[in-house]
Amino acid sequence: MSATIIDGSAVAARLRAETAQDVEKMVAEHGVRPGLATVLIGDNPASQSYVRMKQKACAEVGIQSFGYDLPADTGQQEAEALVRELNANPAIHGILVQLPLPDHLKEEPILNAISLEKDVDGFHPVNIGRLAMKGRDPLFIPCTPYGVIVLLEEAGAKFDGANAVVLGRSNIVGLPTAMLLVHRNATVTICHSRTKDLPEVCRRADILVAAVGRAQMVKADWIKPGAIVIDVGTNRVDDPSAKRGYRLVGDVAFDEAKEVAGAITPVPGGVGPMTIAMLLRNTLRGAALTIGR
Ligand code: GUN
Repeated sequence: MSATIIDGSAVAARLRAETAQDVEKMVAEHGVRPGLATVLIGDNPASQSYVRMKQKACAEVGIQSFGYDLPADTGQQEAEALVRELNANPAIHGILVQLPLPDHLKEEPILNAISLEKDVDGFHPVNIGRLAMKGRDPLFIPCTPYGVIVLLEEAGAKFDGANAVVLGRSNIVGLPTAMLLVHRNATVTICHSRTKDLPEVCRRADILVAAVGRAQMVKADWIKPGAIVIDVGTNRVDDPSAKRGYRLVGDVAFDEAKEVAGAITPVPGGVGPMTIAMLLRNTLRGAALTIGR
């Protein structure tokens, strides 16, 4: 039987519509329009495209966006100084420093410099630390992991006691997703490049989250029949027949996997739009934190 396709674009559109309403309510009731600063350093084409999409999404829901595009040779002090300047700007309620940064820049001090209350990516060590602990709520949950959980809920996932397998241990996706699943009482296995018998481990998963950045690595026979599969991968593969010369595929071999899974996200149109929808919600939350101060 073919899997239910989890329509991330539709869920994200619904969330954006809610956010747009909440934004206008905030403007009407408090005179505060949420603002997001995007900081893009260098000329990574994928990052440029993600930042453009984030700015466009802001405009669509009435969030003001402030774009800062810095050259690839920006210095460490300059980058940190910009973050401090944005911290002090009252029109800005969220600061997003697009990752990865150019190699010469140290990511940690730049992310540490972001004010906790404006950390809409949820990457500040205090927010991540709270996420890692029981009973300590972070101010912001990282956008992609947050979107993954919403899609799992949408697919009717029963977290309690489920075997959840997360492929990938990145700070941005794998680790925070695993923590969110643990908080929901799943039994979580985090897999990485040294994991032995990877297909076998994946086959035990009731919930499988793939976030490794390897095109179509997860095959149909890695998937437990009926499992919910969330594919976070967005990999460019050459395709001369496509207008841009490439197309996007996930970490899961979608066409074969959908014949085994109970529910699965497509790429594109699965997790991608959710990341942006959650960023908008987090920015609204950042603005809400400033009300009543
Ligand atoms: N690079 C890839 N995903 C993300 C994200 O969610 N936030 C930021 N800032 N950079 C990213």
